[in-house]
Amino acid sequence: MRSSDLRKIRDVLAGRSQGCILTADCRPLLAALPDDAPIAIVSDPPWGIQFVQHQASTGRPASNAVDHWIRRNAGIRVAGDDCPFEPAPLLRWPVILVGAGRFASRVPPGGTWMTWDKAPAKAPADTFSDSEFLWCSRPYVKRNVIRVLWKGICCCDRTRESGRRRHPMQKPILLMERMILALCPAAPVAGARPAAGLGRPLASPSGAADWDRVVVDPYCGVGSTLLAAMGLGRRYVGIDIDARWTRIARLRVRGLTGRDIDARLHNSAMQTG
Ligand SMILES: C[S@@+](CC[C@H](N)C(=O)[O-])C[C@H]1O[C@@H](n2cnc3c(N)ncnc32)[C@H](O)[C@@H]1O
Repeated sequence: MRSSDLRKIRDVLAGRSQGCILTADCRPLLAALPDDAPIAIVSDPPWGIQFVQHQASTGRPASNAVDHWIRRNAGIRVAGDDCPFEPAPLLRWPVILVGAGRFASRVPPGGTWMTWDKAPAKAPADTFSDSEFLWCSRPYVKRNVIRVLWKGICCCDRTRESGRRRHPMQKPILLMERMILALCPAAPVAGARPAAGLGRPLASPSGAADWDRVVVDPYCGVGSTLLAAMGLGRRYVGIDIDARWTRIARLRVRGLTGRDIDARLHNSAMQTG
């Protein structure tokens, strides 16, 4: 573990910096943080499903966006996805996790099970599943269905990202935004009645208000959670063990989209190769 990484995290926690993205194994970094660190874990960890994107087998040239996406990601393996995921190290802080149905036996009782409905409107009957289960440590979240379209190329981030998905397990920014709000609701407006559907306030040994917690995604991939946190005005920490993804996350956080990201990746590949 690099001490400079820990320093960068502490800078964000202390409000000296808005956010950071680190290429590192998240486990020793999280282990070095105290239980009362004012953070909330919002993440989509590897699920232990040994996902490998297979090459389209037709042999014909890629003819549409789905074909291009499949071919770009062919053979890519995702770090940590070869063994069952263990959520215990994350449970020291408020947490919400995508795909928790895959490791349901290892989350504690209490909290709220939530559904991500990926095909809320007319969506193609394709090979992707129609929903995933999320687990949130906040009990009694009543708005516990999140409807965000994400089926193949029918994705809600299509305009912003020019239809590109850059990580084989990329998630929509809108989904991550809803997850942040389910775990750490926005600050109440003075004089307003509490919003319906929020769970109980989080127990807060650090005294941090829910909306003031730093959003930490220890398995951040190409940074969808971090973009959502920025959009909500929250501070963020993103960690991924694979530099391929953190590189793209940094470009996305800088506001680059679609073709600009492609151009940067292309130029640096030319320089190094
Ligand atoms: C499901 S993907 C996250 C994708 C992300 N939601 C997105 O939208 O791009 C899980 C990520 O966890 C990373 N990972 C696996 N083991 C890790 C570890 N020990 N520390 C940090 N990152 C890890 C993988 O490299 C992978 O990018």
